[in-house]
Amino acid sequence: MSTKVTWHGHATFDLETGGYRLLVDPYFSGNPLVKVDKNSVQADFILVTHGHGDHVGDTVEIAKRTGAMVIANTEIVRWLGKQGVQKTHPQHIGGGYQHPFGYLKLTQAFHGSSLPDGSYGGMPAGLLLTTKDGIKIYFAGDTGLFGDMALYGDEGIDLAFIPIGDNYTMGPEDALRAVRLLRPKIVVPIHYSTWDIIAQDVQAWASKAAEISKTQVQVLEPGDSISV
Ligand code: NI
Ligand code: MN
Repeated sequence: MSTKVTWHGHATFDLETGGYRLLVDPYFSGNPLVKVDKNSVQADFILVTHGHGDHVGDTVEIAKRTGAMVIANTEIVRWLGKQGVQKTHPQHIGGGYQHPFGYLKLTQAFHGSSLPDGSYGGMPAGLLLTTKDGIKIYFAGDTGLFGDMALYGDEGIDLAFIPIGDNYTMGPEDALRAVRLLRPKIVVPIHYSTWDIIAQDVQAWASKAAEISKTQVQVLEPGDSISV
């Protein structure tokens, strides 16, 4: 039983794990990198890291069409309820829960989280998922570098997705420091080159990351999958 993670560009993923389909930050409409039709996407669960439009994305529409349960912080879940999304599960930073697909913990992230209509979206989060077969996958979310990444690293991360785009999140240099703190077996850079303001030379970053760590660096193209 393995877990397949497909990156759709920016911070948007779908996962197949433990017989369930998960979406993370389903930003399809308006995502210049995305190659799939949002109307064809299936989901049992949708995980939202924070309230910004490039992360909440099409959550409301896809949740209503698929009947997926949405997992996010309490404030975002409350807002989704007002948009007519009924199946939700609120969590918050530091809290984990055993869902049918695995154990999901919300981790801290240093960023904002206002919702598309300006509503308060609570604290932004990252996601630390332990699959049913014990694989640990970390989605850092939108965040700056923070030293407590080392504590998440202590858990033994198999696969980490970290932003390298700069401007809104960690840039390339801080992302290298994040690799040292997280010590994942595999790291995948995300949240770059969606727009010019976060354009990065991802191959150059991958070379440096491979030099400074034992971590295997994988650069994905939008639509590519990785199995762990
Ligand atoms: Ni953001
Ligand atoms: Mn973002």
